[in-house]
Amino acid sequence: MTAARTTRLLARTFALTLLWVATTAPALANDSPQPAGWDDQIKLSEAVDLNADPHIVEVTLEARVATVTVAPGVDVEAWTYNGTIPGPLIRAQVGDRVIVHYTNNLPRPSTVHWHGLRVPIEMDGVPGYSQPPVEVGDSFTYDFVVPDAGTFWYHPHVMSAAQVGFGLYGAFVVEDPEENLGVADELVIVLSDIDTDDNGKLRSPDTGGSLGMVFGREGNRVLVNGREHPTLTARAGAPQRWRIVNAAKSRYFMLDLGAGHVFRKIGGDGGLTEYSEDHDFLVLGAGERADVLVAPTAGPGETLMLRSVLHDRGFGSTEYRDIEDLVAITIADMPPYAAGPLPETTREITPYSTEGATAVDLTLTLSQDPRDKSFEYRINGQPGWTTTPVMADLGDVQLWTVENTTKWSHPLHLHGFFFLVLDEHDEPVRPLEWKDTVDIPFEKTRRLLVRFDERPGTWIFHCHILDHAQGGMLSAVQLGLPASEFTPLAVH
Ligand code: C2O
Ligand code: CU
Repeated sequence: MTAARTTRLLARTFALTLLWVATTAPALANDSPQPAGWDDQIKLSEAVDLNADPHIVEVTLEARVATVTVAPGVDVEAWTYNGTIPGPLIRAQVGDRVIVHYTNNLPRPSTVHWHGLRVPIEMDGVPGYSQPPVEVGDSFTYDFVVPDAGTFWYHPHVMSAAQVGFGLYGAFVVEDPEENLGVADELVIVLSDIDTDDNGKLRSPDTGGSLGMVFGREGNRVLVNGREHPTLTARAGAPQRWRIVNAAKSRYFMLDLGAGHVFRKIGGDGGLTEYSEDHDFLVLGAGERADVLVAPTAGPGETLMLRSVLHDRGFGSTEYRDIEDLVAITIADMPPYAAGPLPETTREITPYSTEGATAVDLTLTLSQDPRDKSFEYRINGQPGWTTTPVMADLGDVQLWTVENTTKWSHPLHLHGFFFLVLDEHDEPVRPLEWKDTVDIPFEKTRRLLVRFDERPGTWIFHCHILDHAQGGMLSAVQLGLPASEFTPLAVH
């Protein structure tokens, strides 16, 4: 057993009352060791907090069409929040009240869904279950408390495949003020893509018809915080924290920082994981997040490349494809930073017990209509528009068995609640991690353990390949409400 692992186990044993501890943090470094302007090409703009109360974050969000520059000389008339892709980063602290004055100046109705945030149903942004769609020119005030620290995001829930694909998404970071990793530099990295023609005009969201839906349409331009191939200038060896969001509507990313580099994963969808763990590659399905520490290291003037390598998400996903360069990291002409090893983190997470959990079986299928040959994704034999909901009582713990019979993977997202993923022995996967979106690989089964708390409502779940959701892979949990009150969704 390594010293680090021993430390970790000791920390887990003795730090029962702490939410987390950094066990091997180097001398606390709250001053950035990076050169000035190191992250200028990547840094997200942040929403301006208009409220003087330190525990209230009050911001405005205007959805509108705007011209954005995604690469030198490439301007796109995109759908944006406040005129940028991604929209402004919203930053709050755990327990804060967040008020968002939202106005829809798009050419279509829309809403905002707060992906991963455990908000009341009225704030969940799903038309029909949470609120009516916000009509063109109308406003809506979102107002909720953020109960969990972590890396979240927001996006519309009306015609979501089209609207997210056109540029509507932003990051939402909830900080834990008790947390001090001793890493001064943090980047919030929103990965996405956008589909344009050679003149930068948005392509139709229906390209490829029914078959395009079956695969899930990926944009031809891969964006990192709204730009193709931005550059970061880094001091060799200096640790950085990257909070990464996969906001693409269909694309998976399998990140690689090159030989000699690891991603120290400290958190996922729902905040810090049970303990940090090193990964050579980081796979993020659509909708998933990762919180990692990295220390890019090379000689002065050399360039490292953050790439997305080929990940097999099913038929057609790796053939005739290329590795994507995402971010060029140029090493600054400065002496290397002597930081020592990257910090390790732990967090106490108490898993639910599978004992007494209600079993719920879900089967994901793809059907073809023999008459017009069109395809439809289904959950338990039904597309979203005729679905029967999963029934749950307040406080229920459920064990979901999700069987994917199709030839494509599906990142399944549950609104409003976190779950734990179980391994083949029905034990929670270690390190424990609160998830709201999990990859169900093609022709594989995954088991999840979820507890529904005291927030009654109709909470949807769907594939976060948003074309698949639109193609039928969507259903709902009817929590604390009678089955007779359920009506399937027409738009989402
Ligand atoms: Cu991020 Cu219903 O989705
Ligand atoms: Cu899917």
